[in-house]
Amino acid sequence: MRCTYVVTGCAGFIGSSLTDRLLAQGHKVIGVDNFSTGQRRFLEGALVHPNFKIVEIDLLDLGALKQAFAGGQKVFHLAANADVRFGVNHPEKDLQQNTIATFNVLEAMRANKIKDIAFSSTGSIYGEAEIIPTPENAAFPIQTSLYGASKLAGEGLIQAYCEGFGFQSWIFRFVSILGERYTHGHVFDFYKKLLDNPDELLVLGNGLQKKSYLYIQDCLDAMLFSMDNFKDKVNVINLGTNEYCQVKDSIGWICGHLGLKPTLKFSGGERGWIGDNPFIFLDTAKLNNAGFKPKLGIKESVIKTLEYLVANQWVLENRE
Ligand SMILES: NC(=O)c1ccc[n+]([C@@H]2O[C@H](COP(=O)([O-])OP(=O)(O)OC[C@H]3O[C@@H](n4cnc5c(N)ncnc54)[C@H](O)[C@@H]3O)[C@@H](O)[C@H]2O)c1
Repeated sequence: MRCTYVVTGCAGFIGSSLTDRLLAQGHKVIGVDNFSTGQRRFLEGALVHPNFKIVEIDLLDLGALKQAFAGGQKVFHLAANADVRFGVNHPEKDLQQNTIATFNVLEAMRANKIKDIAFSSTGSIYGEAEIIPTPENAAFPIQTSLYGASKLAGEGLIQAYCEGFGFQSWIFRFVSILGERYTHGHVFDFYKKLLDNPDELLVLGNGLQKKSYLYIQDCLDAMLFSMDNFKDKVNVINLGTNEYCQVKDSIGWICGHLGLKPTLKFSGGERGWIGDNPFIFLDTAKLNNAGFKPKLGIKESVIKTLEYLVANQWVLENRE
C-alpha cells in the first residue's frame, strides 16, 4: 500500500538510502533534516523526485516539527547524534539530539495523529553484555556510553507512547552499518588515515575488539521486512549478521584491497575509547526465524564501503 512516510535524518547515511528506497517503491516521503551531518549530495535524486518534500528544520524546534509532520502516515525516526565515540566530550549532546529529539518526534506524531514509528536504536544499548550473541531480551543492560544511554531513553519514551497513546513501534537495535554513503566509523577513519600516511596506521585499542556489521541495503530490507512481519504493539528487533570480525581482520581486508602494508601502531587496551565495547555481536534469531537473511557478509560489506569511499573522496572532506 502506498504511504506517506516522514523520515527524520533524511540526508544522513541511512536516512538518504531509505528515502531513495521508499521513493523507488512509489511512496511519498517528507524528509526532515538540519544538515548537521547530513549531505545535500545524498539527496540529489530525491530532491528532483515529485514525491519528495524536504523540510529543513531542527528536531529540537517542536513547533516547526509539528507542522513538518502534517500529512505523514508513518515515521522513520533516524536523526540523531550518531557518533558514539565523543559522548564524554559533550554530555548534553546525546541527551538533546537522541532523547529530547525523540520526545519531540513523538509529540509531533501525536499532534498529527500519526501512530506508527520505526526507530533506529543501537546495539550499544546492551553495554558490555554478558550473553553473546546478545538477544533482545538480555538482562536489563548497564550503560557504558552516553550515546547508548540516550538511545535507550528514547526507546523507553517510544514504548510508553505505545501504551499511553496507542502507538505501534519497531525499535531496531543495529550493529554498525556499512556501505554506500557511509560517512563515519572505522573504515572511514582507517581510509582517511591511510590517505594521509600509507606507511603507518594508528589503531585505537589493541585491534582485537570483535564487532559485527551489516550492509546498508540489508539494513533497509530488514527494517521494511520487520514492519511487514512483526505486528506487536512494541517490536524490538536486533539487526545484524550472524558473524563478527576483529578490528585487525578488517584492517587486513582494507590494506589488502588498497595494496598497502602499513606498520600498525596500537593505542593499547581492550577498548578503543571510553564506552567502546570490546565485543558486539547481536543474536538475530528473531529476525532470521521470521524468514529474513542478509545478503552480504562482513568482508564484502567492508570492501563495498571502501570502494564507495575511494570513488567519493568528497565525503572525506565533508566529514571530520
Ligand atoms: N551508522 C551506523 O552504523 C549506526 C549504527 C547504529 C545505529 N545508528 C543510528 O541510525 C541513525 C542514522 O545514522 P547514520 O549513520 O545515518 O547517521 P548520520 O549522521 O549520517 O545521519 C543522521 C542525520 O540526522 C540529521 N540530524 C541530526 N540531528 C538533527 C536534528 N537535531 N534535527 C534535524 N536533523 C538532524 C543529520 O543532519 C543527518 O542527516 C541514527 O539514529 C544512528 O544513531 C547508526
